[in-house]
Amino acid sequence: MKLGVLTGGGDCPGLNAVIRAVVRKAIQFDYEVIGIREGWKGLLENNIVELDRESVSGILPRGGTILGTSRTNVYKEKDGEARIINNMKKAGIDALVAIGGEDTLGIAAKLFKAGVKVVGVPKTIDNDLFGTDYTFGFDTAVNIATEAIDRLHTTAESHNRVIVVEVMGRHAGWIAVHSGMAGGADIILIPEQPFNIDEVCNVIMKRHSGKRNFSIVVVSEGAKIQTEEAMDKDGSFILSSMKKDSFGHVRLGGIGNILAEEIEKRTGFETRATVLGYLQRGGSPSAFDRVLGTRFGVFAAELVKEEKWGQMAALKGNEIVAESLEVAVGQLKLVDTELFNVASTFFG
Ligand code: F6P
Repeated sequence: MKLGVLTGGGDCPGLNAVIRAVVRKAIQFDYEVIGIREGWKGLLENNIVELDRESVSGILPRGGTILGTSRTNVYKEKDGEARIINNMKKAGIDALVAIGGEDTLGIAAKLFKAGVKVVGVPKTIDNDLFGTDYTFGFDTAVNIATEAIDRLHTTAESHNRVIVVEVMGRHAGWIAVHSGMAGGADIILIPEQPFNIDEVCNVIMKRHSGKRNFSIVVVSEGAKIQTEEAMDKDGSFILSSMKKDSFGHVRLGGIGNILAEEIEKRTGFETRATVLGYLQRGGSPSAFDRVLGTRFGVFAAELVKEEKWGQMAALKGNEIVAESLEVAVGQLKLVDTELFNVASTFFG
């Protein structure tokens, strides 16, 4: 068996832990392992490299991905699917482990339907992939955001300021809710719960009318404004760029700064914004993500051994189980109202 492994989509702490685990388990099964560079792009362009025990030595704590990554949509490329199938044949690759989020695994699900032997590993710092309780990378991102909120608290308090902290989360507010709860945020705004800017300002005004003279507002980059006051054109996202990637996603970001300006204008309180951005994705994975990535990687190699094509490794409770790729990419896993209600107990 010659097994190909690739990492696609945004990079994420823990990718190298998964690659290492796939390679180490595959070697136990006497498989040859081929690394595919830069996600699906590498398979379209035959950009591959042999992986052995040496090549994955020392990578467990390293951020990013030793294979590189890209947001390449095979189905937007001319003869993309046929090229993938032909290039796999040419390189003698029998099966694939695709490590990625909804886009990368969406392609894996389509290729599986076209007859490609493929299994998946769920990755995203956003934690919005359906079919798994957690994706690796999320825990690290939450820890980074929580530490940032702790640090911003002391400066907000010293200056009597409102600080708006913008975190990642395109469609789902998992990072905002978890880091906001862990960091004691006074307001958390997420894509699942469109917000009214007057209500946000009222909460801050009320809070500052008591003993508190500072506030921390955590906002997901994809949070939506509820009313016609929406400050962007379509009334939903604050876009930093209209440029779309090959999966049709616009680049988000910018809501933090705009929100901070509006809060200052409406409340009169000095307000600042901090956009955490790619800091949340870079650097060494947390111990939790190293362990989860390792368990996912070993399980993915076992799925290959058992020829369970079209499945991905998933965490359910504390068990790693198989979940259908088609089910996983069929919908997003959004923040449940119950969790948000717990978080909102502490607003104001
Ligand atoms: O999907 C992970 C993520 O970090 C999102 O939170 C964010 O919206 C997006 O990727 C950013 O994408 P890019 O790396 O293409 O700028």
